[in-house]
This record gives sequence, structure tokens and C-alpha cells, in this order.
Amino acid sequence: MIEFREVFFEYEDNKWAVENLNFSFDKGQFVSIIGGNGSGKSTIARLANGLLLSQKGKVIVDGITTNDPNIGNSIKAKVGIVFQNPDNQFIGMTVEEDIAFGLENLNVDRNEAHRRVTEVSEMLGIEKYLSSPPSILSGGEKQKVAIAGALVLTPEYLVLDEVTSLLDPISRREIISIVKSLVKNQGIGVLYITHNTEEIVDSDYIVAINKGKIVTKGKAKEVFSNVEYLHSIGVSVPGDIYVSYYLKKRGLLSEDVFFEQEIIKRLC
Ligand SMILES: Nc1ncnc2c1ncn2[C@@H]1O[C@H](COP(=O)(O)OP(=O)(O)OP(=O)(O)O)[C@@H](O)[C@H]1O
Ligand SMILES: [Mg+2]
Repeated sequence: MIEFREVFFEYEDNKWAVENLNFSFDKGQFVSIIGGNGSGKSTIARLANGLLLSQKGKVIVDGITTNDPNIGNSIKAKVGIVFQNPDNQFIGMTVEEDIAFGLENLNVDRNEAHRRVTEVSEMLGIEKYLSSPPSILSGGEKQKVAIAGALVLTPEYLVLDEVTSLLDPISRREIISIVKSLVKNQGIGVLYITHNTEEIVDSDYIVAINKGKIVTKGKAKEVFSNVEYLHSIGVSVPGDIYVSYYLKKRGLLSEDVFFEQEIIKRLC
């Protein structure tokens, strides 16, 4: 389990970027974070895998506090992280070198590294590119390579910070379905940060943040029911929820009805 206990973090400007965060998520869960620009989402991502350390409060990963000086690389081995722009994550001459980069740093033997890279690439459907230079890949393929680089390290948790935001709708759907299958079939715990709220309606729960503070936490139906408030903090709700909200406001629906099919059933 990854637990945030009364976590505060400030950059060098003596201003809390995140304040008093309390939430946790476990292996096999898909938990999402939403919030406007600058609300603190990427800060939370970096706190979750020890890239940043809180000045107040604790982030605890399977019982280990991230700012304990004696833990070595154990948190980074447990918690993988992938960011928005895959171009910034490439260092190798070939896709295989790129995916294997983290393994080399851990001194994993070459044969074992090749085995793991092949296995993960097959799962993500990018095995045909292993000997190609990363520069020839499309945005969606590059993002799969970045996810593969995290998965070869066999993480127990994965933090994904806006990994679909630069992708077209088809690649976006493909990535999200891969991520959800990792949760379901491999029991990985995923912390998923996005501005695309359509992607997260089936989250185990959603955390909404504003100005570094958690403002709502719950299932999609609860969190997205406050359409106007979410808009005011820079979060747009999924299209069907917005339609339902608008129809209710105009008196065409008498209750909150989410999801396209339900709305059609009520109206037709
Ligand atoms: N390296 C940094 N140094 C100083 N302040 C920073 C740094 N990184 C982020 N901040 C500040 O911390 C706050 C939270 O930033 P963060 O990047 O976590 O937001 P975010 O929710 O990820 O935003 P976005 O949606 O734009 O990605 C912002 O006020 C930002 O200006
Ligand atoms: Mg961010």
C-alpha cells in the first residue's frame, strides 16, 4: 500500500505546493488524480516514488517511509513512474536499449534483461521495433516504450502522470486499456493522473485536488456530481455526465443519470 499521511511539500519558494494530503491506494487498485494546472498533481506523482521527499508528514510504501535515509533504491524499485512526454525519456540508440536502460543500472545480466524486454514488448505489441531507433516511433508507440521501460523493472505500483495527454483518441484508448489490464491481470497498483476524465470513470476512486489540497475523494458518481465546482477548479467532467447535468438543469431529467445509455433510456 502507498499511504500519504498528512503530507506537505514545498519547492524552494517557501510555499506549500501540496498541503495535508491524506489518501492511500493498494496493489490491484486503479486510483486517479484530477485537478487544474498547477494544482499539485505532478508533485504528488514524484512524492509517491520518492523522487521528492515531503518536509512534513510521511509517504509510506509497503511500510517503508520514503524519506528514511537507509532504504537505498527500494522505493524506486517498487514504484515505477512514467511522464507525459516520452521524447524526454529516451536515451538509447534502439528501442531495446531504451527499455533495458533501468535494468542495466541495476546490473541485471544481459540475457535476463533481453528476456524481460522481449516479454514486456510482446505484451505491449512493440516487439517489432526493438532494434529500431526510438525516433521513428509514433507518439503512442513511444509512450508504450516508456511504459515498457517501467514494467521491465517489475514494479508493484505504477504512477502515470498524464501519459495519454499528447496522444490521439485511438492511442489513448489503447494505452488506457493496457494500463487497466496491468491492474486486473498483474495486480499492479496504479496512480493515474489525467485531465481526460472520460478515462477514469471506472476508477476504484478519484482524488480531486485544488491549490495543493484534496477537495473531494470518492467514486466517479460522487466526485463528478459537482459539475460547476469542478469546472471552477479547472476540471471538466466526462461528456455524458455533463449532458445529464445540463438536461437536469433544464428540467428534462428528474435525477442524476450518468452514462450515455442510461440517459438515452430515460429520454427515449
Ligand atoms: N521545480 C519547481 N520549482 C518550484 N515550484 C514548482 C516546481 N514544480 C512545480 N512547482 C509549483 O508547484 C505547484 C504544483 O505544480 P505541479 O507541477 O505539481 O502541478 P500539476 O497539477 O502537475 O500541473 P499541470 O496540470 O500543469 O501538470 C505549482 O504552483 C508549480 O508552480
Ligand atoms: Mg503536471
